[in-house]
Amino acid sequence: MELRSRNWFGKTGKDGFIYRAWMKNQGIPPEEFKGKPVIGICNTWSELTPCNAHFRELAESIKHGVIQAGGFPVEFPVMSLGETLIKPTAMLYRNLVSMDVEESIRANPVDGVVLMCGCDKTTPSLVMGACSVNIPTLVVSGGPMLAGKFRGRDIGTSDIWRFGEAYKLGQMDDQDLEEAESAMCRSRGHCAVMGTASTMACMVESLGLSLPGNASIPAADARRKVLAQRSGLRIVEMVKENLQLSDVLTKKAFENAIRVNAAIGGSTNFVLHMIAIAGRIGVELKLEDFDRCSKGIPLLANLQPSGEFFVEDLYYAGGLPAVMKEMESFLHGDALTVNGKTVHENISSAKCYNPAVIGTLDKPFKTETGLAILRGNLCEGGCVIKPSAASSHLMKHRGRAVVFEDIEDYKKRIDLPDLDVDETCILVLKNVGPKGYPGMPEVGNMALPKKILQKGIHDMVRISDGRMSGTGFGTVVLHASPEAAAGGNFAVVKTGDYISLDVDARSLMLEVSEEELALRKASWIAPKPLADRGYVSLYIRHVNQAHEGADLDFLVGNSSSVVTRDSH
Ligand code: FES
Repeated sequence: MELRSRNWFGKTGKDGFIYRAWMKNQGIPPEEFKGKPVIGICNTWSELTPCNAHFRELAESIKHGVIQAGGFPVEFPVMSLGETLIKPTAMLYRNLVSMDVEESIRANPVDGVVLMCGCDKTTPSLVMGACSVNIPTLVVSGGPMLAGKFRGRDIGTSDIWRFGEAYKLGQMDDQDLEEAESAMCRSRGHCAVMGTASTMACMVESLGLSLPGNASIPAADARRKVLAQRSGLRIVEMVKENLQLSDVLTKKAFENAIRVNAAIGGSTNFVLHMIAIAGRIGVELKLEDFDRCSKGIPLLANLQPSGEFFVEDLYYAGGLPAVMKEMESFLHGDALTVNGKTVHENISSAKCYNPAVIGTLDKPFKTETGLAILRGNLCEGGCVIKPSAASSHLMKHRGRAVVFEDIEDYKKRIDLPDLDVDETCILVLKNVGPKGYPGMPEVGNMALPKKILQKGIHDMVRISDGRMSGTGFGTVVLHASPEAAAGGNFAVVKTGDYISLDVDARSLMLEVSEEELALRKASWIAPKPLADRGYVSLYIRHVNQAHEGADLDFLVGNSSSVVTRDSH
């Protein structure tokens, strides 16, 4: 075993002196880091990322495992993306963090790395960065919160949208909301529903990047620490076996993850992140792969926002291995995972303990699949819908477009009494895409006009070039690509145009002739970029479109773990 860290600590003379001497100022004896696998623990702990605020404690469990296995753990911080506090949107910084992770791993004497992921973007950003280096890598997720308890019922993040409607209609006041706030986030961990954070935790488990069970153990459950310690132990073995990230992240692994995502009703954000991760590790993954692989897979997990239960209930019901066991006929059982076993071996003894939470292929929770890709002249590059969280009566719908040019326009007009809209209309929101906003915020499930809500109607077809929170729901078409700011057909859709949505046919059509569209595009003026300096300017100039994963064009691919120049 030739350890990468030997290029630092194994050197002789002045160079080795410098590398070792400054480690010793931490009170570490040389035998700790000389000759032992050095394991980086990439920590996204931050008090500004409340979902990951317990990570310093969790990191200690990983360290115990590393030491137990004869390795030397070194914890290092990277920028942390807290979904709730970061403005304008954490997605704007996903690619920036991936650069931080990539360069931090490559530049330092680490032989293997454990990625500590929790709140939404902390998972894809870390996995993307690690893929661009490709050393032995294992993910430990922070785990979901316990379900909230509010006035006799269980609540989670998806209820925020319901509370928002109730507040708009005067059915809840500020005091009610304040009480609900405290009742909802009552424990450590990320969102308690199958939002983006848990979707990402399921993604890493189904990709084979974590130990089995990682996705759903609650953050507050002592078994989360046990898994962390075992992960620390395992990463040392992975270094000794030279089990690289690219050995696990094969096309089969991606196909498995897509299929599992369809069965659990995972977040639409999954599509963007998977394409970006595949781009870094060098696996070809297209939008079509999501539709092809999801086809015929019903919704097995009865979890909010598509269903009723919370992610902790998934754990008590047998966890993700039980879901994967039920749908094993759809999976590549021979795909390798980080524990050195195949998917089949990992799930062979899994059991479902609660059929109300995990259905069967014969008796699924819903027959609609978790994700569908739509094509048509409104989105030449494609777009995404989550049928499992949509209204079945709107799956085929033709309606008059009510267009908002940007988020400010939407906020200004949506509740005006004289807005010409009824429940058969289709709300269209432009300029919330990767370049246009910039950063593609989660505003796609725009709240309905007050006058529609007052009729007791809670869903309409909505289309945007933005994203939706994984905790959101409704008949919401997202990630329209190319986005409005890039000047495709979506840029020139107007109020009064008719749009046809047909999810079964996977189609989204704007009923405007090619000639008329060409005329409109000829007079279209590109919006002025919102920044001309710094990272945001770099992002606007280089971000790819949604169907390409919204990575920065110059970050796609990887540069290996080799440090090309050595100043010492
Ligand atoms: Fe962090 Fe939902 S806000 S996971």
